[in-house]
Amino acid sequence: MEKRKTIAIFDSGIGGLTLLKDCYLHLQGVNFIYLADNGNMPYGNKCELEIFQKTKVALQSLSAYSIDALVLACNTVTAICVEKLREDSALQYPIFGIEPAILPALQNVKEEKKSILLLATNATLQSKRVQKLLQKYNINGQIVCNAPRELASMIEKNILQLDRVDWSQYLPKGEFDSVILGCTHYIHIQEYVQMHFQTRIFDGNIGTVNHIRQKLLNMKKNGNFVKNTVQFIGKQADFNAKIFKNMLEESNKNL
Ligand code: DGL
Repeated sequence: MEKRKTIAIFDSGIGGLTLLKDCYLHLQGVNFIYLADNGNMPYGNKCELEIFQKTKVALQSLSAYSIDALVLACNTVTAICVEKLREDSALQYPIFGIEPAILPALQNVKEEKKSILLLATNATLQSKRVQKLLQKYNINGQIVCNAPRELASMIEKNILQLDRVDWSQYLPKGEFDSVILGCTHYIHIQEYVQMHFQTRIFDGNIGTVNHIRQKLLNMKKNGNFVKNTVQFIGKQADFNAKIFKNMLEESNKNL
């Protein structure tokens, strides 16, 4: 029997739990380790150097574990750090990232005349990596970018009472063909964003799950289902575990 893979998932806070949930529901036989730097979030309003330094310090907690891969469940950390982390000889495992789902949104345009809204943190939108993506794909200027400054921290703070916040105050005005959630925190309020704009929402989660499956896991389609395990580490491990438990219960209710 093949040895179980251990995959570490990292985000600045609770945003990456949305990717952990999709990995948990769509992959199998994996030991997940979830690590977040909740105390230092939001990363998205910091400068590149600080994001990189904070990420490096946070990732030190992983050195106590034997891991097969690291997933950056944070668009901001991916945009700023993924290349430098891959060059770091101390990190001897494959590193996966997440990116705004620009291509899926463009490939599924329904109303050519309307723009596509890309919501992401300031650091993500300013990064060379995302600027390059926009240069490549936003040829006719259809994609409009917006970085709601307080949104990720408001979601982190209010995760246990999302329905008590008027999320529309953080969202730009306008009608869009679709909205790309380019920050994993924003996925927690996906249904509010959908209600606000009355349009389709895209995020990078499923693309990342498929990428991990293809590159790392040799999964047999008809084999017996092998359960995943999840371990939460870091200063706010219990808080993240509680939110994740709520998320799984909510998705079981909707089955
Ligand atoms: N969850 C992070 C992302 O996907 C950003 C949150 C933050 O600003 O810390 O970009």
